[in-house]
Amino acid sequence: MKEVRYNDTMLWATFEDWPKVPNYLLNNLSLFNNNELQYEGKGLRVGLQNNKYYKNSLYKRWPALPDLESWIRENIPCNFNQIGIQEINPVVKNTKLLVHCDKEPRRYTILYILDLGGENVFTNFYQEHNQPLVRNYGDVTNNLDNLQHIASAKFKTHQWVLLNGLIMHDLDPLERPRIAITGSIWDIKEISSLA
Ligand SMILES: [Fe+2]
Repeated sequence: MKEVRYNDTMLWATFEDWPKVPNYLLNNLSLFNNNELQYEGKGLRVGLQNNKYYKNSLYKRWPALPDLESWIRENIPCNFNQIGIQEINPVVKNTKLLVHCDKEPRRYTILYILDLGGENVFTNFYQEHNQPLVRNYGDVTNNLDNLQHIASAKFKTHQWVLLNGLIMHDLDPLERPRIAITGSIWDIKEISSLA
């Protein structure tokens, strides 16, 4: 496990020792053969940075199919919820997933990325001027000039990652849909190595 902190607060962690998901659970049919959405973002925001406008990417999440969910519950040493497949789809090439905090109950987000969405996609963390580092569920700003950049991560595919959902973060630049297995966790004490 590798953990990155800012002012004593965990931004993200990676778990090299957690097992990789077997390929037979990762083909398109095993991931997406049902139409039931777990969550869909509205995606109507536009961010403004240096007098340039950025359309938001579209976020969708489907529940994981039972085989994948059982494999995760049996093999990953952490009890997380809302296990699903997320797709973050840039509506125009090289746009962002605009800065946001995750929505309740995603206090922390677990990711296992299957497609990075581009060769140079960074997950960037920010603190908004005159605001605390740790924010409320669902906080956003469209004034991207009002953010102090604090750290960036370039994650790999097929690696388990934990993100702090209540520190403002974005994805940039997205060239194509970014796809990941994902889940939520309320309390990182559940992960013994972080306790
Ligand atoms: Fe997020």
